[in-house]
Amino acid sequence: PVLVIDFGAQYAQLIARRVREARIYSEVIAHDAPIEEFTAKNPLAVILSGGPSSVYADDAPAFDPALLELDVPVFGICYGFQAMAQALGGEVANTGGREFGRTTLSWTGDGILHQGLTETQPVWMSHNDAVQAAPEGFQVTGSTPGAPVAAFENLEKRMAGVQYHPEVLHTPHGQQVLTRFLYEIAGLEATWTPANIADALIDAVADQIGDGRAICGLSGGVDSAVAAALVQRAIGDRLTCVFVDHGLLRAGEREQVQHDFVGSTGAKLVTVDAAGTFLEELSGVSDPETKRKIIGREFIRSFEGAVSDLAGESADGESIDFLVQGTLYPDVVESGGGSGTANIKSHHNVGGLPEDLEFSLVEPLRLLFKDEVRAVGRELGLPEEIVGRQPFPGPGLAIRIVGEVTADRLALLRKADLIAREELTAAGLDNQIWQCPVVLLADVRSVGVQGDGRTYGHPIVLRPVSSEDAMTADWTRVPYETLEIISTRITNEVPDVNRVVLDVTSKPPGTIEWE
Ligand code: XMP
Repeated sequence: PVLVIDFGAQYAQLIARRVREARIYSEVIAHDAPIEEFTAKNPLAVILSGGPSSVYADDAPAFDPALLELDVPVFGICYGFQAMAQALGGEVANTGGREFGRTTLSWTGDGILHQGLTETQPVWMSHNDAVQAAPEGFQVTGSTPGAPVAAFENLEKRMAGVQYHPEVLHTPHGQQVLTRFLYEIAGLEATWTPANIADALIDAVADQIGDGRAICGLSGGVDSAVAAALVQRAIGDRLTCVFVDHGLLRAGEREQVQHDFVGSTGAKLVTVDAAGTFLEELSGVSDPETKRKIIGREFIRSFEGAVSDLAGESADGESIDFLVQGTLYPDVVESGGGSGTANIKSHHNVGGLPEDLEFSLVEPLRLLFKDEVRAVGRELGLPEEIVGRQPFPGPGLAIRIVGEVTADRLALLRKADLIAREELTAAGLDNQIWQCPVVLLADVRSVGVQGDGRTYGHPIVLRPVSSEDAMTADWTRVPYETLEIISTRITNEVPDVNRVVLDVTSKPPGTIEWE
């Protein structure tokens, strides 16, 4: 892989994404990982990411300078650029010339990184210190008002770096610059293609499961469907898919799984009716993390139940030891699985798993981002109805009811959700919207007037968001006309709801779901 060394920046993940968009596999590694762990990964190139510190601070995250002597191509970004300059004998100083946000890069015309671009380029910066002198053997190829050395290159050593952030969208030609480093300076080839990814994952699953048997929890969403399809390719009918109807689903979800997934893969599917149990276990609970843990646990109990039924039916009585889940990279990171990452919420299939889990987990998508999963799904021939679906969380409507989950509240939210989905689709907005949670504020009441009378009902929140990977998101500017139709329909058609409000918060600071 191309290893992105994480100096504690929120950008490291994003850099790995951008490298993968250039069709080269990339992983993030902590800056203080021992050099053996690093060389064991056989890096094709190294990218030193940005970071929050000054290279002069006492607690500045360091890296082993031996990395620079491995004859591996290196690219430094922001803090990584400065750390690299310093380690190679250049000069870094606090010039007082801080730059935050958009600035202009003037390109000297030399080198490889900026070839093909106009003489000046908008770039996005965030720095206090600046490189004053490039290390020996490095050519300065760009500068900005606050950073006389804003880019340098040493083609012989296959090393380069930039002070600005090429990975963010505010640097319009950043991806081109990064790609030029990877292809032209590091000499790498684009091999991380959907077909290659699928092949590699199928091989890995076949290795892991051997001649064992597995079940896969299907949720109706993209991730579990693609995971199941991969495992089916690897082990054929030793896979049984299990769909748990936990009663927290949206309208039409159960039928859709039957129709689209089984229709396109021919996989074996067992449906478990567990709505009663889930509701009972959730009764009286309104704390979000408790809800998530209960749901994670009950999913596993349902899978166990399905497995013992299957064992009863199977003639050879062979056990099922593997549980396939469609866990994605962002789920892992956000459940506190990344290094040094805070636990924001326990995704039901990661932090929400019970401790006495008896299955071995098979998570073929654990290192992938959503768009990569979709590409693999298409590669495997899954229909667009599945791979193009907007995400819906495993815990379902339970984490969209702020307050206790009850059957009545679920029925109400299901209605409101269906109206919002129908109208957003009718307005042709599905492609602009990553997903649109519809949330019932069950513990909040407000006064309304409906049909000449006073009402004291609940608000429904619309949370349409646009995103690349759910790690960050912005609220979607849905046209007023569409919002008006949704609001009118929900307040007219859904009993006990007398207000519709719009969530206009990006992520961060808000998360996408309310719980
Ligand atoms: P947040 O709310 O963390 O959501 O910004 C990010 C993405 O993850 C989905 N999500 C989940 N998906 N199990 C899932 O399968 C979960 O427990 C879970 N929680 C959040 C959410 O819908 C969004 O796409």
